[in-house]
Formats: sequence, structure tokens, C-alpha cells
Amino acid sequence: MQTEFCKQLGIEAPIFAFTHCRDVVVAVSKAGGIGVLGAVGFSAEQLKEELDWIDEHIGDHIYGVDTAIPQKYEGMDKSTPEELVAMLQAAIPEQHRKFTEKLLSDAGVPEWPDKDDDVTLSFSAVQAQALVDEALTRPNCRMIVNALGTPPADVIKQVHDAGRLIGALAGRLKHGINHKEAGLDFVVCQGSEGGGHAGEVTSMVLWPQMVDAVAPLPVLAAGGIANGRQMLAAMSMGVSGVWMGSRWLNSSEAHAEPAQRESYMNATSEDTVRSRSFTGKTARMLKNEWTEAWEREDTPDPLPMPLQGYLTFDAVRRTHRYAGSGDCQKVAFNPIGQVVGQINEVESCRDIMFHLLSEYAEALEHVNAINPE
Ligand SMILES: Cc1cc2nc3c(=O)[nH]c(=O)nc-3n(C[C@H](O)[C@H](O)[C@H](O)COP(=O)(O)O)c2cc1C
Repeated sequence: MQTEFCKQLGIEAPIFAFTHCRDVVVAVSKAGGIGVLGAVGFSAEQLKEELDWIDEHIGDHIYGVDTAIPQKYEGMDKSTPEELVAMLQAAIPEQHRKFTEKLLSDAGVPEWPDKDDDVTLSFSAVQAQALVDEALTRPNCRMIVNALGTPPADVIKQVHDAGRLIGALAGRLKHGINHKEAGLDFVVCQGSEGGGHAGEVTSMVLWPQMVDAVAPLPVLAAGGIANGRQMLAAMSMGVSGVWMGSRWLNSSEAHAEPAQRESYMNATSEDTVRSRSFTGKTARMLKNEWTEAWEREDTPDPLPMPLQGYLTFDAVRRTHRYAGSGDCQKVAFNPIGQVVGQINEVESCRDIMFHLLSEYAEALEHVNAINPE
């Protein structure tokens, strides 16, 4: 079931797997789709290590790298990481630091052992450029994807000059149109039900509008796809493939602490919320005491991106490493979409791909059978 876009890339199935886990990238690419490594939060050295591993294990298959290359952000004028860190440090109010620390200590989340560990400058141009440079040294990395907004013109040119494709996520129609006008090769259109950063409009409403608005640019449907029936619904709207994030979080290849897996397994589709409390922009995640605490009238409001992400960087790494400690899950960062309610078992990526495609075929048969003669 190759679409034109699949043919352009040379992949068998129109399944794009967003993941932070290198093992998932390799498993999905080997099973006929394409794994895209989420590199936001990685330093260039960490990305190099991950890509070395992927290149060693992926054979002739291809993959992508996703990062966040901002057009505008607070501190844009700061050119070095040190200057940027100093600006961020100074801009975070003491009240926010104390509030964050209290939430973590009340839940019994242990301290990070090495306070001098590198701080990751997620969502900064300084860091993102280094990641793009590293990704483009890899011949099997065939696509760069921007998580937030239209990438700057010089990065688009750099990726094209290297003979690769570049696309970006869009949660609003106007973002997709901006991507097309800037010369991107494809748009990942994410509806509100998806995990991670998500806008207001649901997938069912947004996908067909995006396909029409950016035609003939390929659109990948994201947000709310975790089985073959949902995949068929998306493909019927004229998209060139499906881009899934949540479905892989509980795959056997994904790295996750047992307590985090358990939170995902126990959650229903009603247990997520769009919250600004971790990154400063609305992202969908599991609801818990942390997300509720930031909503209350008597507590500080989340800061804008990238300040909130810088403030909560320590909370994210601590709640992931110590997922099972104390009441950690009450304050943990567990980004996932509404499909969490459908994900009730741990399967390998190969099995997930197999089930997606066989269920897609069954659903298509069902639709064909009800077609009027
Ligand atoms: C845990 C998690 C982290 C995410 N982080 C990013 C990210 O760093 N960059 C990005 O482009 N998208 C990110 N997303 C969004 C995914 O790329 C994808 O669009 C989304 O998961 C699709 O909706 P679904 O969760 O219903 O499959 C993330 C999603 C999840 C679940």
C-alpha cells in the first residue's frame, strides 16, 4: 500500500513513527514504515551516539530526525549557550522555582544525583542547529522534521542542499499554509487529540481541510491514530501517510520505567489534558496533581516557552528516572494522546505494524461491502 510519498522515500507502508527511542526507530523502519527520532532535548553529542547506534542496526533502511528549530523565541539575540542559560536563569521568578520544587519534594521525587549535569536547551536555535548538522552527516537520515513552526529559510536550504526532505508539524491550518509557502516538502497535520503539543481543532475536522489547503503537498495525518480503522479513516481523507506517536510508547522496544508504563496502561481516553505546565505551550499529557496544581488560581501561571521548559527540565528528568518512587506519578510528565485508552498491552513494533495493516485491510473490506452497487 505505497502512496506516492512512500515511493519518493522508498518505504513500503505509509506509517511514520515518532519516537524518542532509537530501538523503536530501527524496529519500525525494518518493518516497512519509517522511524523518526525525536531529538528535542538531546545535545549534539547525545544525538551522535543515538545515530551511531541506529546506523549500526538499521541496515539499508532509512529514518528521520525531528527537532525544534525556532523562528522566534525569548533570548534569540543570545548567541552562545552560556548567554542563553544566563538569560533563562535570570528570567525565572523565584516563586516559580519554589512552587516546582515543592511539588516534587511533596511527592517524594528524589533529587537528580549530579547537579552539574548539562542543562539541555530545548527549543533553542543554538541547540537545534547543531542537531540538524549532525543528522545531515548520516546518509540514511532522509528527513528532518520541525516540531514547532516553520523552520528558518537557511535551514530549509541546508536540508535541501543535502538532498533530504524537510517537513514540519502543524496544529492549525495557517501553520500548514506557512510551511507550504516557505517551501517545505510535507506537512504533519496534528489534531487536538494527539499526544505532545496539540492545538484546538480535532483531527477529523483538521485533516481534510489541511489536505485541500496545502495541495499538492503531501500531508501526514497525526493525532488519534492507533489502529487500522483509524488509519483507514485518515487515508480516506487524502493524506499520504499516518504519523503516530502515542502508539509506540508502550511497545516492547520503548524505554520506559515500569511505573510509567503502568500509568499509560491504566489510563482511559478521558485521563489526558492539554496543559502548558511542562513546556509553556499546550501539550497533551496524562492529567495528574502536577497539571491540576498549575491550573489553580492561587498558584503561579506557567511561563512562556522556552522559560517553562527550562524551569521544568529537572522535573521531567527526575520523574522519568524515578517514575516508581514515592508518589512520583502524581507529578510526572507523561505526554500521550487520547488513544491511550486503546493501548492496553505491550506489543513489539513489528506486531503493531502487522496489526495496523491487517486491521486496515479488514476495515477496507467492511467499507467496500457496504458500498452501494
Ligand atoms: C511522548 C510524546 C512526545 C512528543 N514529542 C514531540 C516532539 O518532540 N516533536 C514532535 O514533532 N512531536 C512530538 N510529539 C507529537 C508526535 O510527533 C505526534 O504528532 C503525535 O503523537 C500524534 O498523535 P498521537 O499521539 O495520537 O499518535 C510527541 C508525542 C508524544 C506522545
